[in-house]
Amino acid sequence: MDDIVFRSPRKRGRVAVFLSGRGSNFMAIREAVRRGDIDADIRLVLSNKADAPGLVKAREGGLETLFLDPKLFTTREEYDRAIIEEVERRRIDLICLAGYMKVLTPGLCDAFKHRIVNIHPALLPSFPGLHVQQKAIDWGVRFSGCTVHFVAAEVDMGPIILQAVVPVLQDDTEETLAARILVEEHKIYPEAVRLYFGGRIEVRGRRVFILETGA
Ligand code: GAR
Repeated sequence: MDDIVFRSPRKRGRVAVFLSGRGSNFMAIREAVRRGDIDADIRLVLSNKADAPGLVKAREGGLETLFLDPKLFTTREEYDRAIIEEVERRRIDLICLAGYMKVLTPGLCDAFKHRIVNIHPALLPSFPGLHVQQKAIDWGVRFSGCTVHFVAAEVDMGPIILQAVVPVLQDDTEETLAARILVEEHKIYPEAVRLYFGGRIEVRGRRVFILETGA
């Protein structure tokens, strides 16, 4: 068996959520935090879009929000350096990408190795990228789903933490399949964050093991 490369901390965590749109995954995580299912607090909600509905909901809910305007930075590296500063200043333990539609630079990925997770609406490594529900329909797969994974410099390719499967139906449209997948996203994303701060996630090679009890 490969050596352990990472074990998640058992602690009350400080979470940052990055989003660019609707924010339904952010709200699923927030609800799980509110219920006390996740041993963490959301310390920051950050967006690259000023009018992202998720950012507005976070602000209305009394969370700290930050809009970082990409237009004010000349390079992606510079933008992500500003992000690193904001995240470090708040001593964030885990960044949850929740519909954050900006590819992270290697600098940002490396700065928070095993401390950035993402939700993707397909069963990775199938269908990375965008419009993946339509791609799954067009390919003719019988099942699709969603994946929570660690973020590595190679897009959509980090170690897989949790996945959920849904059927693809003959009369599915991009919208109906996306809606069926989203129901599962809202279950497995909070669950992955819960496991993370329960100290129950161990990475060996590129495999993630879910431990019975936290270390
Ligand atoms: C979700 O379906 C998420 O899986 C997807 O964007 C949507 C965001 O919805 N993310 C990606 O495609 C990332 N490659 P939300 O804003 O309601 O959470």
